[in-house]
Amino acid sequence: MRENPIILGIETSCDETSAAVLRGDELLSNVISSQIEIHRRFGGVVPEIASRNHLTAILPVIDEALDKAGVCKTDLDAIGVTYGAGLVGALLVGVSAAKALAYALNIPLCAVNHIEAHIAANYLSYPQLQPPFLAVVASGGHTGVARVDGRNDFTMISSTTDDAIGEAFDKVARALGLPYPGGPEIDRLARTGEANIEFMERKRGKAAELSYSGLKTAVVNYLHNLEQKGEKPNLPDVCASFQKTAVGMLADRAAQAVKATGITTVVAAGGVSANSYLRERLKADGEKLGYMVYFPPMSLCTDNAAMVAVRARDMMAAGVKPASLDLNAVSYLKIKGGSI
Ligand code: KG4
Ligand code: ZN
Repeated sequence: MRENPIILGIETSCDETSAAVLRGDELLSNVISSQIEIHRRFGGVVPEIASRNHLTAILPVIDEALDKAGVCKTDLDAIGVTYGAGLVGALLVGVSAAKALAYALNIPLCAVNHIEAHIAANYLSYPQLQPPFLAVVASGGHTGVARVDGRNDFTMISSTTDDAIGEAFDKVARALGLPYPGGPEIDRLARTGEANIEFMERKRGKAAELSYSGLKTAVVNYLHNLEQKGEKPNLPDVCASFQKTAVGMLADRAAQAVKATGITTVVAAGGVSANSYLRERLKADGEKLGYMVYFPPMSLCTDNAAMVAVRARDMMAAGVKPASLDLNAVSYLKIKGGSI
């Protein structure tokens, strides 16, 4: 592989069809076609509809990414694609397109883990960032703290035992009658509210484990109680209170991980790292506890192919064996586990 390889990244794990072109450290394009408007009327992502829309979007999105980068298909050195975790039908569209291109162009195919890609998104904005560091993973499907000991060495040291934080934001928002995706809506409303309602964190399992389904149920029960009394909830206060508890739980696990590992660099990763309170809280904790915190820019928090291309670049640079053309989508792909 040459010094600054040109890599096409492809991402279709949920409701964003995305393609990006990376040359060395330089991001040449990052095209994202979002299906949010399509799924909004159903209150959440409908997997079959997501797959069909990826199918119509994938080739135009790849062409647009190449065009914007000023690159031809034959200039590409490798292709990186998210093969998990995610919706299996949605993933298959990206994986099939990537395999077809890799075969036709006779270039290596790199199978990328979506969560590792979210973490790697930080290398784009912070080229000086080097492992070891801790990653606060906060997405719609995954939540916890990962230890990153090398460019290709990721270990989850704290995870949720049930729902993911983004899933909890979306489910609580739905219970409040807010549109999908609920995370940004709760973030917006919380700004004018006060965190004056106690929604208890449900402690279960080991201290490093997280649980979001109990918190979601506590909010839903609170709303039902009010309804039975014929009262209306104060939406901004409910949002601020839920958000403070949800983010606080995760920030506490990050603090615990900093203390236990002695690692004092923390990065945020995943869609919920766009949350304004999460950013505020981690920054404040960092100042208090003596850790440095990095956030991806907003455009790289939610799903995008730039992060996939970056992750593929690191895998190729380390000599990770390219994927074979029988690569399949893996819906429940995990990062290896460990403990704090
Ligand atoms: O990482 P992502 O784009 O997809 C997955 O890998 O799951 O994350 C999507 C999640 C959704 O649950 C969405 O509600 C949440 O990220 N999200 C937010 C914010 N922006 C997106 N949650 C809280 N506050 C936000 N500002
Ligand atoms: Zn994601």
